Amino acid sequence: MSNKRKYRALRGTVDVLPDIQPQWHHVREVMISVCERYGYGQINTPILEDYNLFVRGVGEVTDIVEKEMYVIKDKGGDELALRPEATASFCRAYLEHGMRNKPQPVRLFAVMAPMFRYSRPQAGRLRQFHQLNVEAIGDQDPITDAEIIGLCWQIFHELGLSDITIQLNSIGDGECRPNYVHALQSYYEQQLSQICVDCKKRMERNPLRLLDCKESRCQPVIEAAPRSTTYLCGNCENHFSHLTKCLNEMAVPFKLEHRLVRGLDYYTRTVFEVQTLAEGGQNALGGGGRYDGLIEELGGTSTPGMGFAIGIERVIINLIRQGIEIPKPPPPQIFIAHIGPNAKISAVALSTNLVRSGVANILGPAGKSLKGQLRQAGNIGVSYVAIIGEEETRRNIVTLRDMTQHDQIEVPIDYLPQHLSSKQT
Ligand code: HAM
Repeated sequence: MSNKRKYRALRGTVDVLPDIQPQWHHVREVMISVCERYGYGQINTPILEDYNLFVRGVGEVTDIVEKEMYVIKDKGGDELALRPEATASFCRAYLEHGMRNKPQPVRLFAVMAPMFRYSRPQAGRLRQFHQLNVEAIGDQDPITDAEIIGLCWQIFHELGLSDITIQLNSIGDGECRPNYVHALQSYYEQQLSQICVDCKKRMERNPLRLLDCKESRCQPVIEAAPRSTTYLCGNCENHFSHLTKCLNEMAVPFKLEHRLVRGLDYYTRTVFEVQTLAEGGQNALGGGGRYDGLIEELGGTSTPGMGFAIGIERVIINLIRQGIEIPKPPPPQIFIAHIGPNAKISAVALSTNLVRSGVANILGPAGKSLKGQLRQAGNIGVSYVAIIGEEETRRNIVTLRDMTQHDQIEVPIDYLPQHLSSKQT
């Protein structure tokens, strides 16, 4: 009996194969380009962080910390987490590297950063996924909120994704939110017979999350619930109305959504989400907001912050769904076909010399017929094939076939790199 085990990628993790790399590359380039045009600098933070960073940062009573975080005890006995998100890490780095002494806000981004959440995998929901994170730390003016939302919108615009909306809300701050939460709880007290079991638990544990319950029986209750924007204090109201004025001036479209509360505890005032209108799958492509209390929560002096994250896999699913053409990288310029043991050695040396001269090439497989190698070259779409048989090896030449002109010439093998680089534009 065979005891061979078949290894597969873990549930909720995927291999990003060469075929899909042009999409990943394109999305990455667009994201970097927009962030850099807005003056943001790239930062990489570790995947492993202190477990408590997220308990304090994201909040103990959140799905992410309670149910979804990958927690590891290392050999030294320290409790670590595979990061479920990056905002807490950015804030830790801001504090650790004294970024308070730089001109504020400090504008940072990280692209294609892997995140880990133990959730039930489905289309667009993975256990290892990737995000673009953009954060502006150290400024509380609504123009920073507007800049961040504008940046986020610009990325979707330049990616060519059309069927998306920005949903916007303000959930107030430490001064006005308690009044709102109180009003929400009092209202729900009157609705106990209408709501689901989970909402009964949420009333005490995490009342704002009542508003994004997906159960159909709770929908009419949510629709008629008190709205956070009605309870904003003067400062929060002022902040929100300045933000909407800026967005209008910037021609960034948005829709006010009183149900939007987001799943992380650190938000204050502005919250927003980018959603696709497409049916099925996960429709939140990105989201974020203001987190003016987070840095203090992590042990720093009170410092405001504002940012968002976009899920790369969800963006790519939607690029494909909308049939958006991605520029494909050109095929290698030349295929090296070789026949015989001596030719094989000349061929591998030629391949290396071509690379060293900047010529992209594919080395043919050993032991395959010339016909088979030429067919392979045709499928790849190279412009040239260098043919090396025993005769060519003896004479130190290659037969160079031009695949578009359908003619061939003999070229000294040592001269081929120079010959081909002169043909590159
Ligand atoms: P989030 O809403 O938890 O926010 O995640 C942002 C985006 O990451 C989502 O809109 C989605 O596109 C993607 N995403 C989340 N979970 C998954 C998953 N399991 N599989 C695939 N994609 C996923 C945050 O992470 C906040 N840190 C955003 C932020 C930055 N707020 C302020 N600054």
